[in-house]
Amino acid sequence: MRHPEAKARIVADRSLIADAVAEMLRLVTPGRYIRRTATADTEIGGHRIRAGEAVVMNFTVANYDPAMFDEPLRFDLDRRPSDVLAFSWGPHRCIGAFVAQVEARVAFEELLARFPNIEARGPAVFHPSLATAVVESVPVAFLT
Ligand code: HEM
Repeated sequence: MRHPEAKARIVADRSLIADAVAEMLRLVTPGRYIRRTATADTEIGGHRIRAGEAVVMNFTVANYDPAMFDEPLRFDLDRRPSDVLAFSWGPHRCIGAFVAQVEARVAFEELLARFPNIEARGPAVFHPSLATAVVESVPVAFLT
């Protein structure tokens, strides 16, 4: 709704919804970070990390990394991001990632099928939380 051009393309071609969900996951990054304890000495991006040290994996920062995503603040329907870290990475990558993406795709398919002219009536309000992006309210007008 904040990107009317992209929304118009999605309404005209619902097959783009999956790409839109991927880009929304990148921009919102619902799970913002996870804390871990290093089990072995290692080095990441030139930073030495010793076994036993606490490490924060900040998925939001990774999803806005200009080295990975050109113009990271821009909602880009054609980006088709395959390296989005919204669901983390490695052995503990979110086990529900596929289900979550199908749920989001189906929700937007049904919403836009019924209310293709839905419009924002103000900004989404997020619960103040460093760890997760919890939406408290999204003011909209269900225009038919
Ligand atoms: C948009 C929705 C969701 C997001 C953004 C999300 C994100 C995440 C993230 C960031 C992790 C941490 C991975 C790590 O420790 O490295 C995680 C773990 C996990 N998620 Fe999700 N998740 C979502 C939906 C779901 C759903 C729908 C389910 C279940 C059906 C689910 C089940 C799990 C489980 C069981 C883990 C723990 C995996 C493990 O430790 O091996 N998640 N999720």
